[in-house]
Amino acid sequence: MNSGARLVLLGRQGAGKGTQCVRLSRHFVVPHISTGDMLRAAVREGTELGLMAKAVIDAGNLVGDDIMIGLVAERIQADDARDRGYILDGFPRTVAQAVSLDEITASHPLDVVVDLVVPRDLVLSRLSARRVCRDCGANFQATGTEPSPWTCENCGGDVVQRDDDTPDAINKRLDLYETQTQPLIDFYGESGRLAQIDGVGSPDEVFARLTKAVEQRL
Ligand code: AP5
Ligand code: MG
Repeated sequence: MNSGARLVLLGRQGAGKGTQCVRLSRHFVVPHISTGDMLRAAVREGTELGLMAKAVIDAGNLVGDDIMIGLVAERIQADDARDRGYILDGFPRTVAQAVSLDEITASHPLDVVVDLVVPRDLVLSRLSARRVCRDCGANFQATGTEPSPWTCENCGGDVVQRDDDTPDAINKRLDLYETQTQPLIDFYGESGRLAQIDGVGSPDEVFARLTKAVEQRL
């Protein structure tokens, strides 16, 4: 078995982070830690965090840095992540989060930060066609020929559109990416930790580029 990895995946909304992290997690045998999935689980469970986060997420805004840093700090100290590493999807997405992540991981630093590069017009069309399984979170692309209701081929759950995949929320999220998250490209680039990978192509093609780039750095 390989010895795990400590990875961060950056990339615009719809760049394919979730899609590729599922595969990377199997490949490197490390947990896929998606802050979006953690927040959506809290919303489903009706926890205090979920009740607070729902309106923020649906409007396409960012949940506060302190809350997100606390969530991730706790998760990456769990046994599975501490021993073999992890793939972070959706965190950090502000400079304050990135600075805190460096502090939290000082004793076991990140191996590589990948920026999955996909142009804005292409992510817009991917997001408007995205459908997700409410139960297992699997992603699908709608073609207009699906049955209604649509059930998940993996687990039989309902396949629906995410509440934040409305045109207004998508545009808001993409604007926030430019102002809040794009600065992380310089932050990691200047410290020599960044690999920029072309995210255009089939999921298999993108995965092959990603594993090659990560393995070169491990
Ligand atoms: P989050 O869940 O992280 O959503 P996001 O940032 O909007 O990113 P997406 O999940 O939309 O994009 P993705 O890159 O994962 O794309 P996917 O693989 O699905 O966060 C949700 C919200 O939570 C945030 O807006 C915020 O409110 C809050 N939040 C989360 N983390 C936070 C933090 N750290 N700080 C503050 N707030 C936070 O792919 C998209 C579609 O394209 C899919 O349908 C897929 O099937 C398709 N696709 C993927 N790859 C390909 C390909 N190669 N070719 C064709 N289609 C493809
Ligand atoms: Mg995602």
